[in-house]
Amino acid sequence: MRKKIIAGNWKMNLKQQEGTILISEVVNMVKDEVTNNALVVLCPPFPHLGYAKKLFQSQANIFLGSQNCADKASGAYTGEVSAAILQSFEVDYVIIGHSERREYYKETDQTLAAKVNLTLENGLLPIFCCGETLQQRQAGQHFQLIQDQLTNGLFHLSAEQFSKVVIAYEPIWAIGTGVTASNDQAQEMHALIRKHLASKYGQAAAHQTTILYGGSVKADNAAELFACPDVDGGLVGGASLKSREFVNIVKAMK
Ligand code: 13P
Repeated sequence: MRKKIIAGNWKMNLKQQEGTILISEVVNMVKDEVTNNALVVLCPPFPHLGYAKKLFQSQANIFLGSQNCADKASGAYTGEVSAAILQSFEVDYVIIGHSERREYYKETDQTLAAKVNLTLENGLLPIFCCGETLQQRQAGQHFQLIQDQLTNGLFHLSAEQFSKVVIAYEPIWAIGTGVTASNDQAQEMHALIRKHLASKYGQAAAHQTTILYGGSVKADNAAELFACPDVDGGLVGGASLKSREFVNIVKAMK
């Protein structure tokens, strides 16, 4: 069975002390409650990665994720953090191609493909994001666009490499807006993504691939979204900053 994952993307939020408190609360709640159905991945800003893992070392179902990594292996790239450095801090997952990176930092498909390669070469697992704007959806371009993002970012990978990849579908119009994709919209796109993956890697590989939904996931809409047959969990922004809310989302995975 494919992995179910609830990943918390803190984005550029929380100072050290706040981060320590949030992680400790999440660890305690996950420990005490039945959340066996999903893996939890916490993705704080870079400086938190140094201490975060120590707070949940003994917790088998909690993993550490980074929100980004460099598209170069090492060297004179001031301000960047390589996949190798992340690996040395025991990071497990790396979010790649979040729409905020694509839009604000002009990350191209080519840059993202390089990041995917470096992530895998360093033994880390990519969470590869795709998503369309409202304008693109209204123009009926969304299906083609998502297929192109997947093809350009991932389809150079071997089947063995691809088996490590997690996909996150995040419609940009649903991110931070309070507007969630309807269950039908999420399921429709997730099924299309799986079909597109199957066209390259075969049915079995596509069936094994974890596809997360992201965009205004909250404790009160998570269960419905996760009940969609092709939705394998969530990539959660704002709601991952509150321990109770986030753990309730984890518990919504049945
Ligand atoms: P929100 O959950 O705040 O809408 O953010 C979604 C997201 O971008 C997660 O990566």
